[in-house]
Amino acid sequence: MYAGSKAFFYALSRSATLKRLASTYGMATPDSFARRFIAGETIDEAIDCARRIQSQGFLLTLDYLGESVRTLEEATAATREYVRLMEVIVASGIERNVSLKLTQLGVDVDRATCVDNLRRILDPGAKHGFFVRIDMENSPYTEVTLEIFETLWQQDYRNIGVALQAYLHRTERDVRRMNELGARVRLVKGAYKESASVAYQQKAEVEAAFNRLARLLLDEGTYPAIATHDPTRIAATREHAAARRISSDRFEFQMLYGVRRDLQSSLVADGYRMRIYVPFGRQWFPYFMRRLGERPANVAFVLRALLSER
Ligand code: FDA
Repeated sequence: MYAGSKAFFYALSRSATLKRLASTYGMATPDSFARRFIAGETIDEAIDCARRIQSQGFLLTLDYLGESVRTLEEATAATREYVRLMEVIVASGIERNVSLKLTQLGVDVDRATCVDNLRRILDPGAKHGFFVRIDMENSPYTEVTLEIFETLWQQDYRNIGVALQAYLHRTERDVRRMNELGARVRLVKGAYKESASVAYQQKAEVEAAFNRLARLLLDEGTYPAIATHDPTRIAATREHAAARRISSDRFEFQMLYGVRRDLQSSLVADGYRMRIYVPFGRQWFPYFMRRLGERPANVAFVLRALLSER
């Protein structure tokens, strides 16, 4: 069921027609199921949500949803929206931290323009004390994402970090490289459907890799983010940090908005740093489909919601 529903929702997430319909018609009602995972469609809704989250003792990162843009105009528009988002964040007084995707800034259309777009975000970001995290997309983008990251790092941009996926065979090498640079890594299991030639296929293998990489980041990395809702991975991280006397201010946990709120709160109550990834925007459909695919029970939830809306 797990692998089947993940593949099903992943296929839906890539449907251009569904994506267009979803962004045209919006999230429909304020109580729609999508709103469990997405803060809203506008910057104002996102800021309201972020304020609530911050007031509960969480750290946060805001993500303006969008990916796989096909034209330079779309990439420029997304870049402008990020710059505007940062201005609103500064004015609102919430934490200055955003996450973004390179296919949203045009890496598929023209790599040089994508780098320029990223600089357009990083420059005002550095001036105003923002941290900018580059999300990791599916494996055709791993190499280019890390190359662009290193290019900017070599140009002395330090307000950036990257996400690395435990399910990829290559990731141990990438973690070691990032540790060597002193760059901040967000470790995730990986959300895309990948082939056996590049990624572990078995849940147990991904979990073992996650544990191994989390230890490597805790021991040798720079302020890593352990991003998972998996209680066993979290317990292993806590145990390792305690055994090595790594204090709770030298790393952080991260979770997605709307997922395992109970666990989010209990970690804060136990004195850990917990950052919530808060996505918003009209291009919510692929993100939402990936979230549905992560938990088979979500299928039943959506079907029930659809039937009750009829
Ligand atoms: P797993 O999927 O095993 O889930 C553990 C438990 O968490 C489940 O049993 C369930 O209780 C709960 N849970 C997990 N997902 C749920 C959902 N959607 N709905 C309800 N409950 C759920 N991926 C990527 O490829 N590139 C990236 O840049 C990022 N960025 C990112 C940032 C942050 C802050 C997080 C937390 C995650 C990502 N991801 C990501 C997603 C990541 O790769 C992965 O797909 C999800 O986190 C789910 O994996 P878990 O580690 O939570 O374990």
